Amino acid sequence: ASMSTTNNHYFQYKGCNFVSTIYTKEHLEQLQHFEIKDTDVFIVTYPKSGTIWMQQIMSLIYSNGDPAAVQSKPAIERVPWIELPNSNFPARPSPRLSVTHLPYQLVPKALKEKMGKIIYVARNPKDVLVSSYYFHQHLALYESPKDFPDFLEKFLDGRVEFSCWFDHIREWYTHKDEFNFLFITYEEMKKDLGASIQKMCNFVGKQLSDEKLDSVVEHCRFDIMKKNPMANYEGIPKKSEDGTFLRKGIIGDWKNHFTVAQSEMFDRIFHERMKNVPLEFIWDN
Ligand code: A3P
Repeated sequence: ASMSTTNNHYFQYKGCNFVSTIYTKEHLEQLQHFEIKDTDVFIVTYPKSGTIWMQQIMSLIYSNGDPAAVQSKPAIERVPWIELPNSNFPARPSPRLSVTHLPYQLVPKALKEKMGKIIYVARNPKDVLVSSYYFHQHLALYESPKDFPDFLEKFLDGRVEFSCWFDHIREWYTHKDEFNFLFITYEEMKKDLGASIQKMCNFVGKQLSDEKLDSVVEHCRFDIMKKNPMANYEGIPKKSEDGTFLRKGIIGDWKNHFTVAQSEMFDRIFHERMKNVPLEFIWDN
């Protein structure tokens, strides 16, 4: 299989797969010319790497820890995707928070003039894959994976939306110095959320008292978010009611899904494709 054999319900735009029923080439073209302000903050993730968690964290940092901000409006309105054709990003008052899964080559060009700030969140790709596998089973918008081995192959080939995990992270990471850029991992956030949030605050220039910082941490806990319909995408059409967007929220669930042989094959591909990318991941708890 090759990268060019995409599924019918994707189209390719400049080398990246997009779900046809959601995205348009016109908008993807237009957003590259979006005007960017210094106060804009972009969360960048490959899908299933902790996007919604970051939407919650950034909303709370910018509301100084006031939970009302994440209880009255859904995540998508607080921190919109720039790639959605009806994105309200351009019209929003500053400071504008937004999120994107776009690969390096497709983001607004002005970002490379060091306008705005980018927080890239990465997660170990075995857990990304497992999370994505369930996500495809759960959401009406996707074709259900045939089985785990089939999905594993698709993922490794990049025959999924936003294409290949390896390309996404390698391109972003190797070009990071072109941007105001903070790199953080899902695992780091799991292990010390307070310190991770402090790092983000420093990066965006927000100073929060210890008490406010504690409130941010409290309201982006997995169990709290799971109970908050404004933080867990309850409105998105599902195939069935079992399964949730906030599924397990742990490090290392891949061990319950990969066989030893699949894991060894994955490791070989990982080492080959990440040869020149000096990144270490945390694979288990
Ligand atoms: P799992 O499917 O492994 O549970 P995204 O928002 O990029 O689609 O990522 C979704 C993944 O992030 C899901 O992973 C989800 O459970 C996890 N997640 C969301 N909020 C979290 C939180 N507060 N703490 C830990 N994991 C969280």
